[in-house]
Amino acid sequence: MFPWHFVFSSQEKLARRTVEVLGLTAIGCGSLRAGAFVRRAKLANNVTSEIIQPIKALSGGLELPGDKSISHRYAMLAALANGSSELRNFAAARDCYSTLGCLKSLGAGVKIEGSTVQIAGHGARGLKSSWRTLDAENSGTTIRLLSGILSGQSFASKITGDGSLQKRPMKRVMTPLREMGADIRGRDENFPPLEIHGGKLRGIHYQMPMASAQVKSAVLLAGLYADGETSVTEPAATRDHTELALLEFDAPVRKSGRTTSIQGLAASSGSAALRPISADIPGDLSSAVFFIAAASLLPESNLYIGNVGLNPTRAAILDFVKQMGAAVSIVNLQTRHGELVGDLSIKGATLKGGVISGDLVALLIDELPMLAALGPFTEQGIEIRDAAELRVKESDRIAALAENLKRMDAAVEERPDGLRVSPSRLHGAEIDPRGDHRIAMAFAVAALAASGETRILDAGCAGVSYPRFFEELRRLAE
Ligand code: S3P
Repeated sequence: MFPWHFVFSSQEKLARRTVEVLGLTAIGCGSLRAGAFVRRAKLANNVTSEIIQPIKALSGGLELPGDKSISHRYAMLAALANGSSELRNFAAARDCYSTLGCLKSLGAGVKIEGSTVQIAGHGARGLKSSWRTLDAENSGTTIRLLSGILSGQSFASKITGDGSLQKRPMKRVMTPLREMGADIRGRDENFPPLEIHGGKLRGIHYQMPMASAQVKSAVLLAGLYADGETSVTEPAATRDHTELALLEFDAPVRKSGRTTSIQGLAASSGSAALRPISADIPGDLSSAVFFIAAASLLPESNLYIGNVGLNPTRAAILDFVKQMGAAVSIVNLQTRHGELVGDLSIKGATLKGGVISGDLVALLIDELPMLAALGPFTEQGIEIRDAAELRVKESDRIAALAENLKRMDAAVEERPDGLRVSPSRLHGAEIDPRGDHRIAMAFAVAALAASGETRILDAGCAGVSYPRFFEELRRLAE
């Protein structure tokens, strides 16, 4: 249950500011024919689907719940800090509530009031063994990052997740954590449930074979408990929220090029404890992307998104869509807790298309579903290469994208490591997101510019990252 009055009131303020900045004439729930273009339908088995009709514009002001990646990291580090942290605009994402649930089971004090979360940490050695199996539900970040922390504890833990998570590979974190001395076992040596017998860890230098922020973070968090220094070198840049968060909590971390190093708390001189923080979490750019795409696609759009996280390791999407011709501008840029934050203004534009490959894949990893679904509406199409990683996300995203794009009559070629989506006219269809939040939201956006009606089945899965996505879409649809 998330009380939403904070979000609403800040949205109203933002909408008024939007009127001043952009000269818009009709903003706010009252002036819109809410529900006319995006409507909810309840099916017999209580699964909710959303029905989307094409529209001409997406206009108004929007503020997003806190960034999912940052919320996970702040919550985990707050649980290891000495004292109480206050995290404002904490992510509304179901995934982050999975992290909070696990931390509570491990003995951290967790108090939720609206979008503010207070976490009482009892120090890096203050976690307690949980009598029940920890449940990361759908969240890869929860299970992989917590595996790092649990490896350093003096007790044993079991952690698992839902059907989707139980199919996702964990060997990528098990390998370096074992090298550090952790006793960690999984089903078939790769899948949840994981059984972790925490103990004494030694610092390692880990040359990561893949570009993954989750793997990097698991090793660095385990590094807090290791003897001496632990360092990780990544083959390509990935999001650096863990490094920035560790600095905020006063952990002895430093970065040099692609290598990040951390001193074990027991070994580091001076303050060997994490300090609690009081922080405002910026809005989630990966959620904003669906609205940026929708506003860009629809020619008469005029959208303003306030307070968005623009960390350079996440903001490659803005450069990419701008190169495609999108009319996106950034205002009010500032730094908060080491993270860049700003507002975005987006207008409708003609999109050229492009190719995503090589090192860019890791920087755009969560945005690839939306970019692929934009492909049919671009002049040259969208091609994604070197992205086999997409097959082991919340769903096999390459297969889910190809299948649903075909259902809408797009010209699409599925490949082992990506797909090519050629310019084509899309027709409304029934979309099966395969329980994957980003697939559901990407096709809701494509549906706005298709002809005819689209039905997104099991649309509630969007709640994994953005529970109010369809409500906001309804509000901004004109
Ligand atoms: C995340 C890292 C990425 C991303 C995921 C969130 C994180 O996963 O896809 O949604 O918060 O560290 P990988 O590290 O597996 O690429």
